[in-house]
Amino acid sequence: MTQTVEAPIEAPESDYDPFALESLQDPHTFDGASREIAPVVYIKKYDYYAITRFTEIQKALRDWRTFSSTDRPFYAPSPFRPRTLILEDPPEHTASKAAVFKVFSEENLAKMSEYFKAEAERLLDELLADGPVEIEAFRDLAVRYVLKVFPDVLGLPEDGREALLKFGDAVFNVFGPPSDLQAQKLARGAEGQEWVETNTAKELQSEGGVGWQLYQMAEEGKISEHTAQQILKSIFAAGFDTTTTSIASMMRAFADNPEEWQKLRAKPELVDNAWEEAIRYYPASRYGGRVAKKETVLGGVRVPEGAKLLTMWLGAGRDPRQYTDPDEFHVDRDLKGGHLSFGFGIHTCAGNQVARLEARTLLRAMVERIETIELAGEPRRAVNYQSFGHEHVPVRLTPAARA
Ligand code: HEM
Repeated sequence: MTQTVEAPIEAPESDYDPFALESLQDPHTFDGASREIAPVVYIKKYDYYAITRFTEIQKALRDWRTFSSTDRPFYAPSPFRPRTLILEDPPEHTASKAAVFKVFSEENLAKMSEYFKAEAERLLDELLADGPVEIEAFRDLAVRYVLKVFPDVLGLPEDGREALLKFGDAVFNVFGPPSDLQAQKLARGAEGQEWVETNTAKELQSEGGVGWQLYQMAEEGKISEHTAQQILKSIFAAGFDTTTTSIASMMRAFADNPEEWQKLRAKPELVDNAWEEAIRYYPASRYGGRVAKKETVLGGVRVPEGAKLLTMWLGAGRDPRQYTDPDEFHVDRDLKGGHLSFGFGIHTCAGNQVARLEARTLLRAMVERIETIELAGEPRRAVNYQSFGHEHVPVRLTPAARA
């Protein structure tokens, strides 16, 4: 018996505009609606494609030869976007990634871990010293913690660290159409750029720090000096906006779901899972980009050669084909199938171990010290093309009675 193979369909055309202000203000609704049209949607307005569902994004990212990283929607060289890693395919990418894995080795992460724990505990003890307290979780918790611990291990000066947030915010607005929003973000990012250029220079790296180790690899001939600086810039670019806004988002998720906080307090062994759920529920990165090197079929949809594609992982994080009750936040959700909030395949987030360590360490210290988290005002999301998160989360924290 011969099996009939269904011919692929053309990607349904959509008027959906992922970059319209209404989409940026409520991406879960708009990216979710396009996910329900088809696994691959043609975005007429820009002549680009969006891969919208979990399974198809995973499938595409497994096949880097077909779905290359060397081009993408709205790609134009920009001083905010280092060319290494995210814009490379193997073999260049393999060498750059190996260098990052070396600086974030198990040994280095173990050293960071002790330091992150001490600082998380110190900050929380200070915030909770006088009993119940109202704080703005983005500034008072996430930014204070992240801008202290990670730049310290990178060996950066205390002064001017806010530049990292401005720079990061611009980085995540490069891949999108020209607009007033983009112009504003890039102008603000330019204020951070000089600081970033200065602090990625070889002569300023303190001995033993992450930058110093990268330049050492250059001296040993493993990577070029240019690549060392570009990798360091990638770490600066991707390592701050993401972690701060995702910690603020996690605070909102707990404030909106007090029973989940109590569940976690009763079972602190769920901390790691709870944070994975928080990043699935509120991913810090909304999409990535690729180019199809040859014609192919994804989820029964034809993808033409040369198609530029967005990989919509925020929408995929709420894909009902992958998750039961995807719009609910449950610290004990079974996440064995994983999530795409750190991407997937060879470009999986190079800093995911650091991001996980930072967030889990903070969450563990919170679980030991905080009885309840309640909203104390209206939270506000950050409006940004590529990143997603909260920039204002007022909360009331009630300390737990401690032995
Ligand atoms: C919650 C925090 C973070 C989230 C949600 C996040 C998310 C992501 C995602 C989705 C990708 C894949 C991009 C793609 O395939 O197109 C990525 C790549 C990357 N991330 Fe992160 N990231 C986070 C934190 C960090 C940190 C802390 C660092 C640095 C220490 C970092 C450095 C990078 C780099 C260098 C890449 C490029 C990797 C490659 O191309 O192989 N990220 N990140």
